[in-house]
Amino acid sequence: MRTRVAVVGAGPAGLLLSHLLDAEGVDSVVVETRTRDHVESRIRAGILEQSTVDVLTAAGLGGRLAAQGDRHRGIHLQWPHERHHLDFETLIGRSVTVYGQTEVQKDLGAAVRQPVLYGVRDTAVHDAESERPYLTFEDAEGHRQRLDAEVVVGCDGSFGPSRGSVPQAVRQTWERTYPYSWLGILADVAPSTDELIYAWHPDGFALHSMRSATVSRLYLQVPNGTPVRDWPDDRIWEALATRLGHGQDGWQLTPGPITDRSVLPMRSFVQQPMRHGRLFLAGDAAHIVPPTGAKGLNLAVADVALLAPALASWLLRGDPALADAYPGTALRRVWRCTHFSWWMTTMLHTGGDPFDAQLQLSQLRRVTTSEAAARELAENYAGLPIGF
Ligand code: DHB
Repeated sequence: MRTRVAVVGAGPAGLLLSHLLDAEGVDSVVVETRTRDHVESRIRAGILEQSTVDVLTAAGLGGRLAAQGDRHRGIHLQWPHERHHLDFETLIGRSVTVYGQTEVQKDLGAAVRQPVLYGVRDTAVHDAESERPYLTFEDAEGHRQRLDAEVVVGCDGSFGPSRGSVPQAVRQTWERTYPYSWLGILADVAPSTDELIYAWHPDGFALHSMRSATVSRLYLQVPNGTPVRDWPDDRIWEALATRLGHGQDGWQLTPGPITDRSVLPMRSFVQQPMRHGRLFLAGDAAHIVPPTGAKGLNLAVADVALLAPALASWLLRGDPALADAYPGTALRRVWRCTHFSWWMTTMLHTGGDPFDAQLQLSQLRRVTTSEAAARELAENYAGLPIGF
């Protein structure tokens, strides 16, 4: 098999890249180890930055997003006895839209016209430093395959082969593991809030998010290594009620049937360079952020929104300038979001000493009383322009 761009991974980064390249007139083939059903049912975050909405809409993927996405003005930040709303629209004229990554994945799955080979095994990247890179893999029918290309793009997350195909001698990595995890639930109950609530509490962080008018998404800080079975429904709803301030100023948290629960580890990771020869990395293959602030999907979209026009001008018009600039431009945004996610995470999660707790509360008071501090949070949360 031969194509111009071989894409490893059919998550949002890989499928959006295939879709954007197609619109530019560049052929691609995507290979994915999982089944289509699996990638479309994975539950992930659900907050789209303004620029992510703009990219998806410009790519013709804005139909269901416009109809079902819920544009929020801002977020609530709280700690015991206090809840404050930050209105991003007023502060910076930009905001976010609540629309699940699962829905983005389905929209992409329906729109992509280039081949996507699901259920492949043993994918390997070869000769990235040559003019003729290629992939090898076993297809879903068990046949060995070779896919020749002009460029390979690794959109295969932290467990895929692309990241490790950049030789050790040239790659640099940075990593931070956090001493806590999130227990995330989906519940069939109307959200008890109009906009997201990020709550600092001595028992640990809690977040009230949502997926629709009838589905709530909530998270609790839990110790690393917590088994899901330690958290039966009653314990989850009690902890959420305490941490989110049930009863404060008459606010009530309405519990409901829990339809999904899982524990998520929290990690920051960055690998550079995001390009080695004819191998490019995008999304989680190059960087992982902890979930606080919901930057993971948005970063992946920003990477491929830079990469698609860069590859098109290189492969179709012989101009390598944007492709050469990609690793630097993309990495600047990656570090901005890495800092913001780390900052939100460390401001809101407990477990440090009493001095740390006072610093966190002081920071929370600062962002809810100083317009300059609030604007700094808002600009990062609602997202910087793609090529800032
Ligand atoms: C969600 C996840 C996040 O990490 C976040 O900061 C906000 C919302 C979510 O899944 O809805």
